[in-house]
Amino acid sequence: MDIEEKFKGLYIINDHIATENLNPTQKVYGEKLVDFEGKEYRIWDPRRSKLAAAVFNGLKRFPFNEGSKVLYLGASAGTTPSHISDITRNGMVYCVEFSPRMMRELVELCKLRKNMIPILGDATKPRSYLNLVEKVDVLYCDVAQAKQSELFMDNMRLFLKPEGIGIITVKARSIDVTQNPKKVFRAEESKLKTGGFRVLERIKLEPYEKDHMAFVCEFAF
Ligand SMILES: C[S@@+](CC[C@H](N)C(=O)[O-])C[C@H]1O[C@@H](n2cnc3c(N)ncnc32)[C@H](O)[C@@H]1O
Repeated sequence: MDIEEKFKGLYIINDHIATENLNPTQKVYGEKLVDFEGKEYRIWDPRRSKLAAAVFNGLKRFPFNEGSKVLYLGASAGTTPSHISDITRNGMVYCVEFSPRMMRELVELCKLRKNMIPILGDATKPRSYLNLVEKVDVLYCDVAQAKQSELFMDNMRLFLKPEGIGIITVKARSIDVTQNPKKVFRAEESKLKTGGFRVLERIKLEPYEKDHMAFVCEFAF
């Protein structure tokens, strides 16, 4: 078996990507576990995680490391957050989710992972969790909502460190089902630019996710 560290904490094992399991023997979403030289790795599925899809499609800036503080908007039951938690072993992943049903599953996962904090909250109202979240190195947004660029920018202004990185996944159909996805992506990118952010990378997520694009941003100042 071949193993190579592609980014800090992100490994390539044969044709797969993987993270070292922070919670050995435990699966989060039925993923495959692989043992290698005394460590256990969780295979990260690009069909279940847009961040993994972005890595497969050539993401160049992978902003997570062992000590990263991360604000994750749209954490759902914790599939992608769990891989980020594997990477940010000495950091923290603040997981915002507004569905009580998903939150119940997320809370159970967070009990097993010391670096994940569940926050039942609405990402359109970032001030409601202002006292629960510190300044972060990375803000990741995957809420699939019409106003997601706006809420992404509001959260970045409140929580992102000046040198921090934001990643947003845009689902064209969540924004406007009638519009050509290319036009939707251009419009969202232009909102980010006029909002004071520089777009560093744009990555299509096909074939893993149809009509989705990930944008990697930083403050433009
Ligand atoms: C596509 S799923 C996220 C999947 C997850 N990011 C992953 O990769 O494991 C989108 C999630 O965003 C949540 N969501 C949508 N709008 C939200 C909002 N305004 N505030 C917080 N969560 C929201 C939904 O309940 C849903 O669980």
